[in-house]
Amino acid sequence: MAIRSIATRPFDDQRPGTAGLRKKVRIFQQPHYLENFLQSVFNAAGDFSGATLVAGGDGRYWNREALSVLFRVAAGNGVGRIIVGRHGLLSTPAASHLIRLHEAAGGFLLTASHNPGGPDGDFGVKFDTANGGQAPESLTEAAWRASLEIEAYHVADMPEPELDRLGLQQAGDLQIEVVDPVADYADLMESLFDFPRIRKLLGNGRFRMRFDGLNAITGPYAMEILEHRLGAAPGTVVNAVPLPDFGGLHPDPNPVDAAHLVDWMTGPDAGDLAAASDGDGDRNMIVGRGMVVSPGDSLAVLAEHARRVPGYAGGLAGVARSMPTSRAVDRVAEALNIPCYETPTGWRYFCNLLDAGRVDLCGEESFGTSSSHAREKDGLWAVLFWLNLVAATERSVEELVHDHWQRFGRHAFARHDWFIPDSERAAVVMQTLQENPGRFDGTTLGDVHIERADSFAYHDPVDESVASGQGVRVFLADGSRVVFRLSGTGTQGATLRIYLEKYLPPDADHGGTGPELTAALGAFAAGLARVSELTGVARPAGVI
Ligand code: G1P
Ligand code: ZN
Repeated sequence: MAIRSIATRPFDDQRPGTAGLRKKVRIFQQPHYLENFLQSVFNAAGDFSGATLVAGGDGRYWNREALSVLFRVAAGNGVGRIIVGRHGLLSTPAASHLIRLHEAAGGFLLTASHNPGGPDGDFGVKFDTANGGQAPESLTEAAWRASLEIEAYHVADMPEPELDRLGLQQAGDLQIEVVDPVADYADLMESLFDFPRIRKLLGNGRFRMRFDGLNAITGPYAMEILEHRLGAAPGTVVNAVPLPDFGGLHPDPNPVDAAHLVDWMTGPDAGDLAAASDGDGDRNMIVGRGMVVSPGDSLAVLAEHARRVPGYAGGLAGVARSMPTSRAVDRVAEALNIPCYETPTGWRYFCNLLDAGRVDLCGEESFGTSSSHAREKDGLWAVLFWLNLVAATERSVEELVHDHWQRFGRHAFARHDWFIPDSERAAVVMQTLQENPGRFDGTTLGDVHIERADSFAYHDPVDESVASGQGVRVFLADGSRVVFRLSGTGTQGATLRIYLEKYLPPDADHGGTGPELTAALGAFAAGLARVSELTGVARPAGVI
């Protein structure tokens, strides 16, 4: 197999963000662009000669073409074997599992998660390391530095692998193993949850659920697990075929983009549970009758009842949440007498804690939850966890949440996303806040009393690395909190995220949605940060 080195010039925009490199499809389609980036990862990650990698994507537009580039660059860098999902498909959690199962050296995931697909949409590349988790910041930064110095990339001349046929094939010196993308993942789920009990619940003729694949990767997984293995009624899984443009849907499981599920669950014909996942299958939204379960509450309830689920029956070593995520789980951890870690945004920060056995459950406010079974967040896993809890406790989704609020109080939560076309002006807002957050300590604005404020820095207790400047936290005297940070996954302009958390004690009235209960806090926060004054933007583009 001939390997050629192709001379190239650096692109200056290949710095990975919160979840890999994400760009418009057309940027990725520039000659040499993807090759450069992949080569930079190989250059930064060290020797992959003879190594096994896992590869797949969420089926979005350009998935196959990008895989073909990946095969040639991987072979050009001496990779020995690539395990790839049939049709080039793999969900993010399934890929994480395959890396661990096969003890692969790492993996490449072709996805831009919930960002829109299609020729005018987004594309992305994430790379995972041998633990099945996303590359740590040290590696993504090294890849970025390598991308600025690259002079050549290496590609192999080889036949195009056939991705629609299961089994082993040889493409030049590279061995390709095409696997069923679903089977191993479904087995893993079966090992964690009480399938017989869930099967009884789903088959009792009363329990009605809907899972919406949003025409993205989780359709085939949900079909196999929910309808085939668990006997859910046919039609339980909808929009189950992954499409290159997601059929025009926006595969982001949240009350705005999946409003149709919320409508069903708040209407006269409401079922018992509705759920959805995102483009690459790592996010989840759980909707009970008349109620969207806020991700922070979901994490807290799962932690509270984890012992009822076979895979967690031995109890949890600890829990973790990303910094902006509500502190509901902190209270559960305290009651369980286990540690609770607060990490920067981005799943990769949980991985050291998971690897070290310090935590078993973790979650982010952005509809991401998972556990030590993988090193990525996992959408379907969360749905199965909830089903298992409903089956084991004989309480409905909304009853479980209300019970939780009555015991611990409610951390009503919402996120205001301010889209700011001019990134520099967005940066000014954060710089202004970050300069000296301590100046807010003990001040009162209107009727809001600020206890203290800081710029969040994370000291990883496992590898002792430090990540600073991860957002500004403002703690209020009534137990509420406001957090400011800039998104790291956008592909245009900047998004300032303002996270609002209002604490309502156990005996308070818990009625209302998160956005309703935090609206006043949102206005306060925008004023505190002088967002409109500094950016010219009048209001948030989205409230979730
Ligand atoms: C967003 C979410 C974050 C999540 C990431 C990848 O990142 O906020 O929790 O890990 O997507 O799914 P952000 O755009 O805020 O940087
Ligand atoms: Zn995702």
